[in-house]
Amino acid sequence: MTEMQPLLARRGHALKGRAAVPGDKSLSHRALILGAMAVGETRVSGLLEADDVLRTAEAMRRLGADVTRDDKGVWHVHGVGVGGFSEPDGQLDFGNSGTGCRLTMGAVATTPIAVSFTGDESLRRRPMKRVLEPLSLFGMEWSGRDDRLPISITGTAQPMPIEYALPVPSAQVKSAILLAALNTPGRTTVIERVPTRDHTERMLRAFGAEVRLEGETISVQGEAELTPAQIAIPGDPSSAAFPLVAALIVPESDIVLEGVMLNPRRTGLIETLKAMGAKIDVTNMREQGGEPVGDLRVWASALKGIDVAPERAPSMIDEFPVLAVAASFAAGRTTMRGLSELRVKESDRLAAIAAGLKACGVNVEELDDGLIVDGRGKVAGGATIATQMDHRIAMSFLVMGLASQQPVRVDDGSMTATSFPNFTALMGNLGADIQ
Ligand code: S3P
Repeated sequence: MTEMQPLLARRGHALKGRAAVPGDKSLSHRALILGAMAVGETRVSGLLEADDVLRTAEAMRRLGADVTRDDKGVWHVHGVGVGGFSEPDGQLDFGNSGTGCRLTMGAVATTPIAVSFTGDESLRRRPMKRVLEPLSLFGMEWSGRDDRLPISITGTAQPMPIEYALPVPSAQVKSAILLAALNTPGRTTVIERVPTRDHTERMLRAFGAEVRLEGETISVQGEAELTPAQIAIPGDPSSAAFPLVAALIVPESDIVLEGVMLNPRRTGLIETLKAMGAKIDVTNMREQGGEPVGDLRVWASALKGIDVAPERAPSMIDEFPVLAVAASFAAGRTTMRGLSELRVKESDRLAAIAAGLKACGVNVEELDDGLIVDGRGKVAGGATIATQMDHRIAMSFLVMGLASQQPVRVDDGSMTATSFPNFTALMGNLGADIQ
């Protein structure tokens, strides 16, 4: 484990200027995995070079793909083809990354090799049954202590196509199944009652797979041959969320976030903040890497509390920590429900947010499946927050410290390397005081 690195955020100037957040994490994992499953060379620009994604790059190498970065920052993936993975020596260690781990489980489930998976303390606590169960229906076998990492998987030589209704709305589970389907004869179907991010479906098509979408069902034709792709990864809306909320709550701020991916299944935070009174303009809409992209202009705004519709949760599932920060600076009550999934993220996020807000003097109630935040327009701050190995908890509370009366310290800022390695520098360029 890397050493704990405390960071302190304090109130200062308004945030001004332009910034481009790093590449989208979800797309980065998928580009590496699909590139590794294609025959020939896939080129990826704008890849997120953060710890989570670098673990996936390493896992793809260990499974036989050639993955390199050139000096212009373009990543080259020479894939082994669907069904072409070879058995790695030793364990694949996915660090903090649920996405890398669960998607790779799917990618190897229908190839007859044995693969062991592990991760850091946070990932070893997270439930894996949600992917192991559907992948077992293809014929994959697994062993481990209950359903927590470390887990060993033996892929099946004779996969059977499945039809599976997702019991929890999870893009990771959906994606694991779609990846397992690629080396399976026939059509595999996933039914999702609540739409989740559709990056795998979109990117599979870019790699030449046949994906059918009909209402709630997604199906993919197996024994697919993937053709390599050229992918330019746009900015991660989940990372943009931090400077965005910072600009809203630090008086007189006015910033532009360039090239942010705006897939409608990822924009729940922007819609919610607008409903709270946030001044956010979306300009320069375009397409990049098969995804809608735009620039966001954000002005400091007087926010008011709202009820967040639970149906909106999947489109902003990673943004609740920073939404809770915005809600603390709003006037009035914000209610967030339907969030039991937040208990099994990098930390128990409902508990971590509630503890952090309380420590900063915010009136918050933790529910089984949500939070009620009573905003009073201002926040005392003056606390040290337990990061709990969760990058988004660290960054959210640093954002809080930029507008609270007293500074806010997080006990381990090094976790930002998981998804947003230049967080402190980028925020500093906009004028934020984080040290
Ligand atoms: C992700 C899906 C979500 C999200 C995670 C990334 C993905 O997880 O929280 O950060 O890339 O598919 P779940 O599938 O567990 O909801």
